[in-house]
Amino acid sequence: MLLRRPRFDLNMTLVRRILKRRFFHGPSQQPVDASQPLPTKRDQSVYTLHEDVYSSRSGPCKNNRAYQITEIVMEVHRVSRYREVEHALRLTDLKQSLYDEGKILMDKVLVTLHGDEHRQRRSVESQLFRRNFFRVYENDVFPGLLRDTLDQFLSGESADLKELGYRIMVHLSLSFAGIDRIDGTIEEADAQHRLLIQLGQAATIGQYKGDREPIFQEIRDAIDEFRERFFLPSRARRVALINDYREGKISDEALPRDILTILLMHNDDLGMPDELMVREVAFFYLAASHTSVHTLVHATHELFSWCQRQGSSPTDVVKDTHQLQRFVLESMRLHPSSPEAWRRAEASVSLADGTVVPAGDKVVIDLQTANRDPEVFGKDASEFNPLRQIEGRTSRAGMSFGGGMHVCLGMNLVAGTLLRDGEAPKPDNHQFGTVTLIIKELIERGMRPNPDQAPQKIEASERDVWASYPVLF
Ligand code: HEM
Repeated sequence: MLLRRPRFDLNMTLVRRILKRRFFHGPSQQPVDASQPLPTKRDQSVYTLHEDVYSSRSGPCKNNRAYQITEIVMEVHRVSRYREVEHALRLTDLKQSLYDEGKILMDKVLVTLHGDEHRQRRSVESQLFRRNFFRVYENDVFPGLLRDTLDQFLSGESADLKELGYRIMVHLSLSFAGIDRIDGTIEEADAQHRLLIQLGQAATIGQYKGDREPIFQEIRDAIDEFRERFFLPSRARRVALINDYREGKISDEALPRDILTILLMHNDDLGMPDELMVREVAFFYLAASHTSVHTLVHATHELFSWCQRQGSSPTDVVKDTHQLQRFVLESMRLHPSSPEAWRRAEASVSLADGTVVPAGDKVVIDLQTANRDPEVFGKDASEFNPLRQIEGRTSRAGMSFGGGMHVCLGMNLVAGTLLRDGEAPKPDNHQFGTVTLIIKELIERGMRPNPDQAPQKIEASERDVWASYPVLF
């Protein structure tokens, strides 16, 4: 594999321009129309609005939401209390609707499937995690992937953690999805990053109010490029290996452990057309990348800020990996990368507070507000406190990974074993998750905030997203 000298020559202006327009897994970034009256303040509200002109403020515990109202066509029910969110995510008559307008990529990929089709695909893909997947992954696979990326891209004393995070996550997510590196050059990594951003537009196009056709064309071109340049060679290698395995020439241990291999192994049952398999693999690439980078930067910032407040050192915190994992989970709770889940009622359903949602109505499930519910996380629910006690079976990461049938398939990979309060880790079988392990490695390599360059949030976004995070090593 050819590894050139590291350099950050990726067209970050292009990447930032696209990222500013929209994000994977996210609700609208449109500015709130201040001329419209605010709806009545309630914890769980029903607003009547035209879904295409929906815009919202998404911040800590904000129940006031402003909407542009141009045409009365449907009702939107908002659920934001923790227990009500848990309940809503389990209602099987509520169907995924966040990606309705991104069908160009998202049609019939796992997260948009429903009912039996969803169950069948999910049960096949979950087989990837059987046996000792996580132990092998965290001990044998992940350290090599991380080392390769850092050797290639981390040079010199300063870096932007967000850019570095993308370098790492592009590599990890493609490997998990089943896409091989071909020549390992910087140019190839740049192309993969650009494709990630271009493909990701499909997930958020529904919230874009301008002329969508140029974006659809960009996505079509990106799917073609992804297929020709990366998917086809990766598939050919896997088909050959699977044939060798079926002919008894190699053991199953020698097969790659990734989504593409699992899909190819089970394709007689799944019957996925080629073009759908390309999109499914691309979807995993998206689902794993932006979310993890978002989390990596937030968790690092929370760690630095906490240490500054407490007069302690990040190097000391990361010495205890269990402790660091609690920091990461607490940050995931406060800064979920998907602040809302959207559903449409297939049949009439009752929400936990008794509200009846007729078929056709939309339900916005507000994960971010639920994660700051004082009834569950205490009076300081909106503050970062990795030492907080949480009663019952509530996850330290709150609802950041969703729940019910669409609960995040990559949750343990990225967050590790989610211990409930009072549960002791099993020393030989505990997973820490990629974000904790990446932060640990970076801090051990000397990462600290750059005192001369303050980190910046994306101003145009009402969401809590870092634009840049300068660090020194
Ligand atoms: C911090 C990182 C991540 C967060 C916060 C996150 C969050 C979520 C959430 C909230 C959902 C549910 C969406 C819904 O109900 O509408 C979801 C689904 C999903 N996530 Fe993640 N995710 C993360 C990382 C990953 C990774 C690393 C992977 C893959 C390796 C992944 C794969 C998926 C898949 C495949 C689904 C769809 C599951 C289904 O529909 O059955 N995610 N994620």
